[in-house]
This record gives sequence, C-alpha cells and structure tokens, in this order.
Amino acid sequence: MQRKAHVSRRDFVKTAAATVAATGAFPYFARGQAADRPLKIGIVGCGGRGTGAGHDAMNADPNVKVVALADVFKDRVEGCRKSLTDKGRTEIKNENCFVGFDAYQKLLQTDVDYVILATPPYYRPEHFEACVKAGKHVFTEKPVAVDPVGIRRFMAAGKLADEKGLSVVAGTQRRHQKGYIETINRIRDGAIGDIVAGRCYWNMGQLWYRPRQNGWDDMEWMIRDWVNWTWLSGDHVVEQHVHNTDVINWVLGRHVTKVVAMGARHRRVTGDQYDMFAADLYYPVDEKDKDGKIHVLSMCRQINGCANDVSEHVTGTKGFSNCNGWISTIGVLDVKGENPYVQEHKDLIAAIRADKPINEAQNVAESTLTNIMIRMSAYTGQAVTWDEAIKSDLDLEPPEFELSEENIKAGILKAHIRKPGRA
Ligand SMILES: NC(=O)c1ccc[n+]([C@@H]2O[C@H](COP(=O)([O-])OP(=O)(O)OC[C@H]3O[C@@H](n4cnc5c(N)ncnc54)[C@H](O)[C@@H]3O)[C@@H](O)[C@H]2O)c1
Repeated sequence: MQRKAHVSRRDFVKTAAATVAATGAFPYFARGQAADRPLKIGIVGCGGRGTGAGHDAMNADPNVKVVALADVFKDRVEGCRKSLTDKGRTEIKNENCFVGFDAYQKLLQTDVDYVILATPPYYRPEHFEACVKAGKHVFTEKPVAVDPVGIRRFMAAGKLADEKGLSVVAGTQRRHQKGYIETINRIRDGAIGDIVAGRCYWNMGQLWYRPRQNGWDDMEWMIRDWVNWTWLSGDHVVEQHVHNTDVINWVLGRHVTKVVAMGARHRRVTGDQYDMFAADLYYPVDEKDKDGKIHVLSMCRQINGCANDVSEHVTGTKGFSNCNGWISTIGVLDVKGENPYVQEHKDLIAAIRADKPINEAQNVAESTLTNIMIRMSAYTGQAVTWDEAIKSDLDLEPPEFELSEENIKAGILKAHIRKPGRA
C-alpha cells in the first residue's frame, strides 16, 4: 500500500484502474446552433451528486442526454453509467467513459455541450477553467474552491465564460427555487424595509465517512472519504454552509466585508476538520461603510443529537422574513414550484437554447469565499477581512507525510493544514 499521502497524479493514475476505453475526439457544436437539436452532457465526478445531477438534467428536458463520464475511479464511472442508462434513458458508449486524474481532459475532447462538475471542490477551479477554455457550458456544483488561490482562478474563468458567451449555473439551488425567488424579490423591493440583521444555519448530525479499505493508499482513502478532509472539501463550513451564506449574499445584494468566527472539533474519528463553527459576518450598509454595520449570525455543526436547523432569516426596519415563503408584513406566499434540482438545469438549458447566456460564477465564488473566510477566522482566532482573503496566497494541498493513526491523533494533519498563510 502507498503510505505517503502526497502521491503524484501520475503515480495515482498508474495505480488506478485503466481508462475504460480510448479517447474519442470530436469538435463541439458552436454557440447559436442549439435551439432545437438534442443537447449532450458530460459528467466529471460520477458520485452521488454527479449521478443525481445527470438524472435531474434529463428530467429537465427529454431532448437532453448524458453521453460521457469522467472520474478518478472506474467503479464510480460504472455505477453512474448503470444508473443513468437504466431503462434506456440514454446510451453512454465505452469510448466516452474516462478514468483517472486526466479523465476530465479527455471528456472535454468529446462533443458534449455542457459539463456537470461534481468532484470534491478542491478540483473545481482547474476543471472549471478547462471547461471554459474548451468552450463548454457548465453546471458546477458548489462550493467552487477550498482556498483564495482557487477562488481567484475560478473567478477569472467565470469572466472568460462571459467573454465567450458561455452559460454557467451553480448548484446553490435556492436561486432556482420559487419560494426563495418570490420572497427575496419582494424583500429586495422593500417589503421589510432596509435589512439591518440576519441569521443563517446549517446545523445537522454527522455526515458520512469511509474507513480505509485494504489496498487503498492515502490518496485513494482521502478522495473516497473527502467530506472529512479540509484540502478536499474546504471543511464542512465551506462544503455545506455555503448554501446559506449564498442566500444572505443574494438578499443583501453584496458580499461580506469582515468575518470573526470560532470553531472546534470534539467527536470526529476521521479526517482533519472541525465539528462546529459560529461566526459574526459583517456586511456593509452601503459602499461607504467600511466597518460592515449589518451583522449576520452564522452557525454550522455536524454533531448527532443536537438542535438541528438549516435556514436563513433577515430582519428589516419594517419586518422580518425566512427568505423562503413567509414575510411578516405580507404572510405566507404561494410558492409551489418545480423541484429546484431540476429547475436549475431547465434554466441552464433554456439559456443555451436561446443563446442568452446566464453566468452564476461570480455569485457562487463570492459565497464560497465567505465561508473560506469563516474557516480561516475559526482556525486562527483572527478577524479576516474580504480584502485580505481575496488577496491571500493560501493554497491548500494534499498532506506530504504518512497518514498513520498516530499522526492523525497527534494533530499533525491539522498543523499542516493550518500552517500556510493565516489558515
Ligand atoms: N447542491 C447540493 O445539494 C449538493 C448535494 C450533495 C453534494 N454536492 C456537491 O457535489 C460535489 C460532489 O459531492 P458527492 O456527494 O457527489 O460526492 P461523491 O464522493 O459521491 O462523488 C464525488 C466523485 O468525484 C470523483 N472524483 C474525485 N476527484 C476527482 C477528480 N480529480 N477527477 C474526477 N473525478 C474525481 C470521486 O471519485 C467521486 O466519484 C461536492 O462539491 C458537493 O459539495 C452538492
């Protein structure tokens, strides 16, 4: 077994299952030709969400098919292929199934119109940039990076997507959920006056983890167990709580200016993450407000048997709201709508077909950076400003030492992750 965590990609690719079949290279369709013809999708990261998003996209439009798959593990490609081709929903040919760290590059040489990115977020900036350079529309799962260096790379690729007229939709699906859209439109039209404060939570029990199996080296174990490793997930404050800060950014129409956070680890038996975070998010009242006079309470926790809550709330000068179907000054709104996981693909497909690009890259990058700031502040005990974070050279990488039980228990991993910059 490979005991060093820092396995080069080339080494890993050699030990991983071989590519299912040779690469097929096709030209992709140019923009403006997509009004009626069937659209083709490729998935990078064929786990739970990648597979689910493939079904959601095909449910969004019968004239849309998943035709290509890429993953570092052959078993994930095969599982996804079986699920998506069940009952003849689509055909995914051998030559369109790719395995390894370079699988995404091979998928981008096929004639897919849009790509679903659903790997752990560490890989997102690299994959997103490659998609945009290849001229593909993108559905990107959240979060979109784990550190400021990745955020800048993602934002730059988002701007390039604008220049190329490509559409980008993010898996922060509340922005495609009727309850949120109706409510937040009314709040932004003044239904509760000026917003003066907010709260948002992702408090739940333990998420899944995967014990190491015989034959897995350090890299394979961490990737299969990625929701427990900061360099891969960003910590759960980034991986999950980004949904909630995205709503706050949306309703306020701006990003945070400063974060003061705390957090701790109590019950985890694997990985190097915290179990809980609490933060004070400072948002500016207007462009002149450098202090951030609007305060938003943020909490996220993954511990069983505690009070759970996943929600967002704002208080204004004339009332308050849960951002999703209720406003104190109006009451309950009629917000029945499409499943947002399907709606987000409907919106992306409509934009591609009409050649009227939509691009959510900057919004989701700003929400992701908000939560990276919470992690940076909690890990260091320091206040972190937006200006510091957006310029930070923090660039998480896989650990370079043995992932033994002793090293994990001794907290060496945590020391490694926290060393660079201010995190
Ligand atoms: N929007 C939502 O509600 C929602 C829900 C669940 C997950 N997600 C997000 O979706 C993403 C995937 O989560 P998941 O639950 O499907 O995890 P998962 O572990 O089930 O799937 C991830 C897949 O990516 C593959 N992978 C890892 N590194 C890769 C690489 N370099 N190249 C190609 N493939 C690679 C893994 O082998 C695995 O098959 C995460 O960003 C997660 O936060 C979003």
